[in-house]
Amino acid sequence: MLTRREFAASLLGVAGAALLAAAPSRADTPSLNDLARRSGRVFGAAMRADQLAAEPALRKAAAAECGMLTPEIHLKWNSIENRKGSIWYEPVDQLVAFAARNGQKVYGHALLWEQSTPDWALRELKARRNWRLVSDHFERVLGRYGETIEVWDVVNEPIDTQGGRQGLRRNTFHRVFGPGYIAHALETARHYAPRARLMLNDYSFEYDNHVEADRRKTFLRLVADLKGRGVPLDGVGLQAHLDLGKGPLKRPVIAPFMQALADMGLEIYITELDVKERDYRATPQTRDARVADEVARYLDIALDQKAVKGVTTWGLSDRHSWLRIERGDRVDRKRYGNPAPNRGLPYDAAMQPKPMHQALAQAFSGGLT
Ligand code: XIL
Repeated sequence: MLTRREFAASLLGVAGAALLAAAPSRADTPSLNDLARRSGRVFGAAMRADQLAAEPALRKAAAAECGMLTPEIHLKWNSIENRKGSIWYEPVDQLVAFAARNGQKVYGHALLWEQSTPDWALRELKARRNWRLVSDHFERVLGRYGETIEVWDVVNEPIDTQGGRQGLRRNTFHRVFGPGYIAHALETARHYAPRARLMLNDYSFEYDNHVEADRRKTFLRLVADLKGRGVPLDGVGLQAHLDLGKGPLKRPVIAPFMQALADMGLEIYITELDVKERDYRATPQTRDARVADEVARYLDIALDQKAVKGVTTWGLSDRHSWLRIERGDRVDRKRYGNPAPNRGLPYDAAMQPKPMHQALAQAFSGGLT
């Protein structure tokens, strides 16, 4: 059977393939979102208002390529209210205004995530065990942005099959309110944003190993339980932080997982796509080819699933990637110089599009008939 890419290439022929590979900055070249839209999808990227303000090239690319922006940090509780009672909406407003000027949607990330909960709130949650702390936060954020922003990650990263309890992460919310905190969060979000679409967002569902198999199973069980009880859950975010150290991506692993989510009537967003390199010793060309191949392989599978409504990369440029070289990664600074940054996003650190950009364009075009 032809893959989506081979199929698209056979339809488009040489001229079409050349068109897709052309530089994305030319006005007559379709942007990634233009291509995504042809199959009813949206392409987006995580962005920071301060970086957009400081960098014209990033602004230009973000405006041109994206149909949706995810605030990388500004909507998180520790950004909105890092000190109790002192509320900071400014960077969210800036990002929302940028998106509005460019006709883009905004993806709401993330209402409840232990790692982005300010210390004062974690302390008070433990001391007072009062859901009002959480619901006040939801009320504030959704009261202001719940109409403008249509889709929200309500709970981020609830799964932990290794250190968790029955697969759920033992975070402060779980410790204080028990496993019901997830349903409770979704219901609270529905209350304050009756028209928004509510999501759970989590990572490590892509690869063929025991840990990720457990994570897929646990996530499906959690979601089925919530849906079965009539909890307001409209979709899921699959972060898709791909990793070149985890072996090949396999269709028989990913496709049935996504199909099971789709069968529950959920919409799926790929929310944080990027690629962690493990071997930094090759030339940039080779590294870029590996990254692009991984993205092509993943999207070839993911975009066959109709429930996948959008693809967001976790940033546009390697310059801002959150991914770092880690202990155990293969680096040879003597022979190859400084390999930083990780090259797992569509544009390099100098804002030049890379083969990953082409892989995204081709994957979106694979839906063309
Ligand atoms: C990361 C941001 O990229 C960093 O800038 C920030 O310091 C920490 O959070 N999963 C998520 C994202 O859901 O919110 C995280 O973003 C990356 C992992």
